[in-house]
Amino acid sequence: MKNDWRQKLHLEPVKGWLNDPNGLSFFNGLYHVYFQYCPDNAYGKGNKCWGHFQSPDLIKWEFTGTVLWPDTDEDRSGVYSGCAFVKDDEAYLFYTGNVKHDGNYDYINEGREANQILVTTKDGINMSPKDVLLVNYDYPKYCTCHVRDPKVWEENGKYKMVLGARKTDDTGCALIYTADDLHGQWLFEKELYVPDFGYMWECPDIFEINGKKYLSISPQGLEHGEFEHQNIYSSGCFDEKMSEFIEWDYGFDFYAPQTFETPNGRRLLIGWMGIGDIPYTNPTAERGWQHCLTLPREIDTDSYGRLIQRPAKAVNELRGQRADFSAGTKIQTQLPFELFALVDGEFKIKMDFLEMRYEKGVFTLEFTDDKVGCGRKKRNVKLSQCVDIRIIADTSSMEIYLNGGQRVMSTRFYPEDTQAVFETEHLSGIIYDLKPMEVLVRE
Ligand code: FRU
Repeated sequence: MKNDWRQKLHLEPVKGWLNDPNGLSFFNGLYHVYFQYCPDNAYGKGNKCWGHFQSPDLIKWEFTGTVLWPDTDEDRSGVYSGCAFVKDDEAYLFYTGNVKHDGNYDYINEGREANQILVTTKDGINMSPKDVLLVNYDYPKYCTCHVRDPKVWEENGKYKMVLGARKTDDTGCALIYTADDLHGQWLFEKELYVPDFGYMWECPDIFEINGKKYLSISPQGLEHGEFEHQNIYSSGCFDEKMSEFIEWDYGFDFYAPQTFETPNGRRLLIGWMGIGDIPYTNPTAERGWQHCLTLPREIDTDSYGRLIQRPAKAVNELRGQRADFSAGTKIQTQLPFELFALVDGEFKIKMDFLEMRYEKGVFTLEFTDDKVGCGRKKRNVKLSQCVDIRIIADTSSMEIYLNGGQRVMSTRFYPEDTQAVFETEHLSGIIYDLKPMEVLVRE
């Protein structure tokens, strides 16, 4: 069947451009996924708004359209990224109001306002008036005008906010603010910083899993390597001591993730399955839309205390027919599908247009057809041992989970057909057909 590249399992706009997930939350019986949205331009040109999806179960979704517009002086050049803090069944949405002044400015040290703004909503759609909480004047003197992406949580009876920032010496950091009241005065508490770690930290997130604290950031300006920081911008997580940084995803298309807690205490992460300023392309843009979000991923720690990511359990409900496959035979299936296999040593999976292999302690994803990869070539991840692989392939993307989610790789791809043919070496396992999610579009 001809592939129209419309995703079946991943949230994407019908038209326009999507980037970061924003305001991830659960309140009044629904999950809410907001996102950076340019409804009228598939290349992201134009001022950013917040689009909104909601769902009772993470698989039946409703798109309710644009819910936050750049319509005040303090956010007139864009309603940038932010979060949701839920209290008494009401969501407090914090975001950055971006303002660019007309003139001959560098927009780093001058010409830009970064206003942290709060709105509240009971139904996720209708918003209160905007309350400006912090302006440029409130940030430490060593910060440039790039201070944004608030994430708020509660700790020991106080509210805390983390912001991503770029300092005047061109290093990135995170700023922590504290308040007694969400609408009240937010006071600067401290800076989190690691030497030589990029010029800007975007979309910070601080959370706890199994009693340990983590700081997730999307740093820009890290040195690229063969096995790490392979993309233009990175995204990963520091442990509490800020001594180790593990990338969330080693594929071509992943950035700016955010986490939130579900009603039963699980922590889910959703990322943007895309990155800004990439050297490869997404041909859906010519058809009027670009980018999607990743699957919701449950994050946890394994028995070694390592962070792992797995598709949220709800995704299993999309499984249809199951078939076994074994090494050396041609397997024909349809996108979308899921593959799971236990691994014993080195292996290879060859599709018409890409190859995945685990060899000499490295897992590699390599496009063999440039038309399908649209400029994507090769990504690697080191793994001293590989015990399993789980792939969720949608009509134009793939998420690969290795070792129970210890490492993940995501990529977009654009095959002409929904038929997928592959052959494996030294790998047997199972395949499921996957049923599409329901996405109702109300606008
Ligand atoms: C990350 C980011 C954020 C910003 C938003 C603007 O992709 O640059 O820092 O708030 O996108 O769309």
